Amino acid sequence: MLIFNNKADLRSHLSRYTSKDSSIGFVPTMGALHRGHLSLLEQSVKENTITVISIFVNPTQFNNPDDLKKYPRTLEADVVKIEAISKDIVVFAPSVNEMYDGNAQSVSFSFDGLENQMEGSHRPGHFDGVGTIVKKLFEYVQPTNAYFGEKDFQQLQIVKKLVVKNNIPVNVVGCPITRESNGLAMSSRNQRLTEAEREIASFIYKTLIVAKDQFANNKIDYIKQYVIEAFKARPEFELEYFEIAAEDDLISATLKEDKKYRAFIAVMLSNVRLIDNISLN
Ligand code: PAJ
Repeated sequence: MLIFNNKADLRSHLSRYTSKDSSIGFVPTMGALHRGHLSLLEQSVKENTITVISIFVNPTQFNNPDDLKKYPRTLEADVVKIEAISKDIVVFAPSVNEMYDGNAQSVSFSFDGLENQMEGSHRPGHFDGVGTIVKKLFEYVQPTNAYFGEKDFQQLQIVKKLVVKNNIPVNVVGCPITRESNGLAMSSRNQRLTEAEREIASFIYKTLIVAKDQFANNKIDYIKQYVIEAFKARPEFELEYFEIAAEDDLISATLKEDKKYRAFIAVMLSNVRLIDNISLN
């Protein structure tokens, strides 16, 4: 399996896949791979001539230095998991210096307001960091198709906006959320929870399912209140936000229109920040 640490070597290898009848699939990640990441990788392998996965813990998207420090880094184990899918997958695992040329700063973006909602308002600078790194990665990989999980639905919408606003010729593909058997959305941060805590954390998805069941017959305010009360009764969690928003603008909704809606949640459990979302209609 080919592993590149350096963008020039990566570019020179990928240049052989630029003909009209080849396609490059790309799965950007921060590593500590789980089945959620691997489902994106499998889809890309099926749909493209060659697949590239990047593994890079991007410092500029972390608003909390402690979170960055504790973020799991498991390159060797990641490579074994990638190889089990296909030995033809190309891994790009650069250093911070390689990606940022000694200046790990993010550029400031406007994503037409998408960046001001939910994760954007709770994690200042986060989406500037994501935009900065994804734009650089797209420049180096020049993918035909890029795969992003609905687990980070706001990020998926922001990447689609980044591509349109910057005329980047890539097809952004949204992929469904992979869950544990108890419903907990898979996340690299779950590694920081004990087995018992992961069981407790399944309450997040169970609550989203109730919200979905209620959506057809109840007002948005009622559902929000229900969820806030449900978490108040579970002091092991700290609810950061619960929002219902249309998929296109992600603005917290109060009235239902003829649009596609999702419920979004962020909670803290044992000092680990967990996010999830569900389609409501
Ligand atoms: P990371 O959290 O490693 O996620 C990489 C990709 O895997 C993202 O598109 C994410 O939505 C997807 N993913 C994570 N958990 C998933 C799950 N349970 N089911 C389906 N997909 C899942 O997201 C990032 O990294 C970074 O912000 C990145 C885009 C790489 C930029 O640094």
